[in-house]
Amino acid sequence: MRKNWNARLAWGWACVLMVLASCKAPQENPDNTYAFVKPANFPEPTYTFDNNPVTKEGFLLGRRLFFDPLLSRDGSVSCNNCHIQSTAFADSQQHPLSIGVDNRVGIRNSPSLANMAFMPEFFWDGGVTHLDFVPINAIEASFEMDETLANVVAKLNADPTYPTLFKEAFGVEKVTSPYMLQALSQFMVMMVSANSKYDKYKRGEGQTLTSDELEGLQLFQAKCGSCHSGELFTDFSYRNNGISTTFSDEGRARISEFAGDIGKFRVPSLRNVALTAPYMHNARFRTLADVLQHYAEGVKPSATLDASLQKDGKLGIAMTQDEQQKIIAFLRTLTDQDFRSDTRFQNAD
Ligand code: HEC
Ligand code: HEC
Repeated sequence: MRKNWNARLAWGWACVLMVLASCKAPQENPDNTYAFVKPANFPEPTYTFDNNPVTKEGFLLGRRLFFDPLLSRDGSVSCNNCHIQSTAFADSQQHPLSIGVDNRVGIRNSPSLANMAFMPEFFWDGGVTHLDFVPINAIEASFEMDETLANVVAKLNADPTYPTLFKEAFGVEKVTSPYMLQALSQFMVMMVSANSKYDKYKRGEGQTLTSDELEGLQLFQAKCGSCHSGELFTDFSYRNNGISTTFSDEGRARISEFAGDIGKFRVPSLRNVALTAPYMHNARFRTLADVLQHYAEGVKPSATLDASLQKDGKLGIAMTQDEQQKIIAFLRTLTDQDFRSDTRFQNAD
C-alpha cells in the first residue's frame, strides 16, 4: 500500500511543483505575529519559504483547515483529532496509536508537530520529504481521514466561506490542492517551540538549571547525544534502537526497500518529550522511566541494531538508576509551556 503511495506522491509532487513554479508569491505581512522567526539557538529552517512565504491570511486559512473535519470523508476527523496543542500537537496520551474515521486504529503513534520548519524529512520512516505533501497522506489514508484530495477541494469550492479566504490568502479565484497544502504548511511552520526552560538557559536569558538538570544534560550529551544531537535533539538519521527483535512495521525499509533498514526509525526530536507519551513509533513505552530503563537494560539484539547500542559485546547504554533520574530531570526542561498555550495555534473559527 505504501509503495503505491510513493508512486502517487511522486506524481503529486511533480504537479504541485509545476504550479508552485508558476505562482506569484503574495506580499509578506508586516505584522510580526505572523512572521516566521528562527530562534537564535536553532539551525536554519529547511522549509522552502521562498515558494510559500507566511502571511497572516495564509496562516489563518491554514489554521481553519487544520481544525476543520470537512477534510475527512464523513466530516468527523480533523488534523486536530490526532495533533492537539496540549501535547505539543502530538496525539492525546489516551491514544497509543492514532484513531481515524470510523474509529479505525492506525499503525503508528502521532508525532508532535513542533518545529516542522526544521525537519528535512517527515514520518517515522522519512516517507515524505516536503512538508507540503504530508497532509495528502493524512487525508487519503483509510485509517486517518479516508477522503480524496479531489473531494476535499470540491467541498472547499462549494463552501460559502473558503473561496473568499483562498482569494485573500493567495489571490486565486478557485480553491486548488496546492494552495490548500500551502496554507496548511503556513500554519504548521509557525509552530516553532523554542521557549523551554532549557532554551532560556541555553540562550543566557537568566534561567538557571538545577544541579540535577545540569548533570542530566551532561549525561544526556554523553549517552544519548550521538543520535539525539543538536538543538532539535535528533540527527535526523534512521536507526534501530533495539525495542524489538522482529519488526512487523519495517520502518525505513518500507521506503528504501533495503533489508539493512528493517527496524530503523527516525531518531525523534525530544522537544516537549515529557508531554508526548506514549513513546516510540508503536507507542511501546508509557513513561520516560520506561524509556530510560529500556536503554539501560532492555535493548534487544537484531541484525540492524545500532552499533552504538552494542559496544564491547554488551547491549544497551550503561546507566545507574540515579543517572536515569537525572536524564529525566533534564528531559523535563525541554517542555515549552508557551507553545502549549500560544493562542495563535487555537481554533478561532
Ligand atoms: C488519524 C490521526 C491523524 C490525523 C487525522 C492526522 N494525522 Fe498527522 N500524523 C499522524 C500519524 C500517525 C503520523 C505519523 C505517520 C507515520 O510516521 O507514518 C502523522 C504525521 C504527521 C506529520 C509529520 C510529523 C513528523 O514529525 O514527521 C505532519 C506534519 C502531520 N502529521 C500533519 C497533519 C495534518 C496537517 C493533518 C490534517 C490534514 C494530519 N496530520 C492529520 C496521525 C494523524
Ligand atoms: C542509536 C541511536 C540512539 C541513541 C543512542 C538513543 N536514542 Fe532515543 N531514539 C532513537 C530512535 C531511532 C528512536 C525512535 C525508535 C522508534 O520509534 O522505534 C528513539 C526514541 C526515543 C524516545 C521516544 C520519543 C518519542 O517521541 O516517542 C525517547 C524519549 C528517547 N529516544 C530518549 C533517549 C535517551 C534518553 C537516550 C540516552 C539514554 C537515547 N534516547 C539514546 C535513537 C537513539
